[in-house]
Amino acid sequence: MTLVENEIPYSETLPWPEGMAPMAVIDEDGALSEPHAQYAWLRHNYPVIAMHNEVGPDVWMVTRYDSVRAGLRAPKVYANQPADTQPTYAFVSQWDAPNHTRLRQFYARAFNPKSIALVEDAVRERAITLIDRFVAAGGGDLIEELAVPLTLITIGSVAGLPTEDIPTLKEYSEHMLLLQARARALPSSEDAEERSLEFLAYVAERLDVLYAEGSESVGGVIAKAWKDGEMTKEEAAQMTGFLFVGGHDTTTMLLGHLVRFMIEEPDLLERLRTDPEAPALAVEEAVRMRGAVHRATRYLKEEVVVDGVPIPQGELVRLVVAAANRDESVFDQPNEFDIDRDNSKHLGFGAGVHSCPGAPLARLQLRVALEEISRRVEKFEFDGADALEIQPGHSISLGPKRLMVRVTSLT
Ligand code: HEM
Repeated sequence: MTLVENEIPYSETLPWPEGMAPMAVIDEDGALSEPHAQYAWLRHNYPVIAMHNEVGPDVWMVTRYDSVRAGLRAPKVYANQPADTQPTYAFVSQWDAPNHTRLRQFYARAFNPKSIALVEDAVRERAITLIDRFVAAGGGDLIEELAVPLTLITIGSVAGLPTEDIPTLKEYSEHMLLLQARARALPSSEDAEERSLEFLAYVAERLDVLYAEGSESVGGVIAKAWKDGEMTKEEAAQMTGFLFVGGHDTTTMLLGHLVRFMIEEPDLLERLRTDPEAPALAVEEAVRMRGAVHRATRYLKEEVVVDGVPIPQGELVRLVVAAANRDESVFDQPNEFDIDRDNSKHLGFGAGVHSCPGAPLARLQLRVALEEISRRVEKFEFDGADALEIQPGHSISLGPKRLMVRVTSLT
């Protein structure tokens, strides 16, 4: 299929196959919550498309692996910073160099493989308690009862926040996510900003305590950088608070997907139980196939031509990593969950300067959860016809928000 020269490939004007919902900025009815068929069709036929955006410039989608990767690796052209003037609480992901470079070095300092390995015992202990309880109950909502508490407690302790505050942190992390959505022209809520500021004020107070205690947590490292004059108080609070935005939903949903794979792939649980390498391999393949971050949103600093299509300066571009991760030119049989494949080139944790600093923590939590689940669970089954409920397709993280399962215990 070819475009008439200079014609903008707007999603709604494309000859989408019968029954396939066209891509849109806002997913009104949930038809775009897992748009892998759409991504495949776009990769083959229209690798670059535009979508009308009611609240700002057009939003473009780029779906082929090479183009997505090239965009992620060209931060001077594909920028994260919407404007030169930033709000005081601008999140780390909303900055470009030089501020981004300065702030990122503290994550690099705090999230080193050694400090992450130190939390493994604590993560395992919590995972065992939660899994034992879930198995003893015969199942339930895996997201709410297992994945959410596991990831919240982990991030809370990595950030250095007290366990008794964990229940309120979930609410706050949702407000922070909604505020982040607003910066990307997505539906938000009226009090997202007010509630996020409340949370950041609470985090700043905690950072004072962590500094006084000489804490070695990620929060402690950030608190020290603030007190040493390497960043402002607002920056320190958002750097710590943002861990909930980046690290909570993403890991929660991937655990949901991993259990879904255990239902869809009957031999997986047995392999996880008997092959010590399998849990880490399964996590990586799940990030490739169903990583919760489908796209990296960027602001174009100059006009670019991608796969033959010009995209004007100033527009928003979604570099769709979830589409790139199933590009046949890089991954054979991309829709198959194959834990033995070489998936080292996947973009599920992003690429370039904004790539995920929390990847080692996500890998650790999920691997430990799979190890402990496979030691206790004989099989999972969906509980009911509507057991799986997925976030609408415009959400920042895409994946199960509810997953009702029945569990058969191994013992
Ligand atoms: C399986 C779970 C996870 C997935 C699939 C994931 C995916 C990603 C992706 C694709 C990006 C790049 C976004 C972009 O380029 O615009 C990113 C950035 C980020 N992630 Fe993760 N992530 C996960 C877990 C975590 C965890 C556990 C944390 C923290 C504890 C975290 C913190 C962050 C932060 C702070 C950024 C922004 C980095 C920057 O802009 O420099 N993520 N993540």
